[in-house]
Amino acid sequence: MKEVAIEGKLFELFLSEQDIQARIRMLSNEINEYYENTYAEPVHVIIMMNGAFFFAADLIRILDFPLHMYFVKSSSYVGMNTSGDVSFQLPSDMDLKDKSVLIVEDIVDTGNTFEHFLNNIIQDQPRDLKICSLLVKNKNPKIIEKVNFAGFNIEDPFVIGYGMDFNGKGRDFKDIYVLKDK
Ligand code: IMP
Repeated sequence: MKEVAIEGKLFELFLSEQDIQARIRMLSNEINEYYENTYAEPVHVIIMMNGAFFFAADLIRILDFPLHMYFVKSSSYVGMNTSGDVSFQLPSDMDLKDKSVLIVEDIVDTGNTFEHFLNNIIQDQPRDLKICSLLVKNKNPKIIEKVNFAGFNIEDPFVIGYGMDFNGKGRDFKDIYVLKDK
C-alpha cells in the first residue's frame, strides 16, 4: 500500500518493512555489542506498550544476551496530541535495583513519556539505564541525546503503523506511514 486513509486523514508510505527490519538488525548489533560484557545477570528490558510491541518482538529475538522482559502500559496520546498527563501500569514484580535496564520505546516525541517514566524508575536504583527507541522526533536536542539507541531520527509529522496508532487504528500495518495533509 502506498497510501492509507484513517478517519478521513490520508497517510503515505514512509518507512517500508524492509527499511525497518534492516535498521533493527543494525541496532541489534549496537545493543549486543554494548551488553556483550554484562552477562553476569540478565538485562531487564522494559517494553513500553502498546506502541513498542512490534518493534520489541523483532528486536529482542535478535539480541543475544540473557534478558528478562517487563511490559509497561503507558498512555498519554489522544488522537494526534499528547494529553500531557502520562500514566503507567507497572508490573507488580518489577525489581530493578542494581540491574542493567534497557527501555524499549516505539517513538520519542516530546520526551514527556520517558521523562515521567525515568522519574518513576530512577527511585528503584538501577545500576545502568539505557533507552532504545525505533523513532525519535527531531524536536528537542536535550531529549535526543538521552536516547542511547535510536532507529530513525525523523521530523515532526504524525506516523502510524508497526505498532503505532491513530485513535487505535493502523497499529497492524507492517510499514510505517506518515500523515500527508495536516
Ligand atoms: P512523547 O511523550 O511526546 O515523547 O510521546 C511518546 C508516546 O506518544 C509514544 O510512545 C507514542 O505512543 C505516542 N506518539 C508520539 N508521537 C506519535 C506519532 O507520531 N504516532 C503515534 N504515536 C505517537
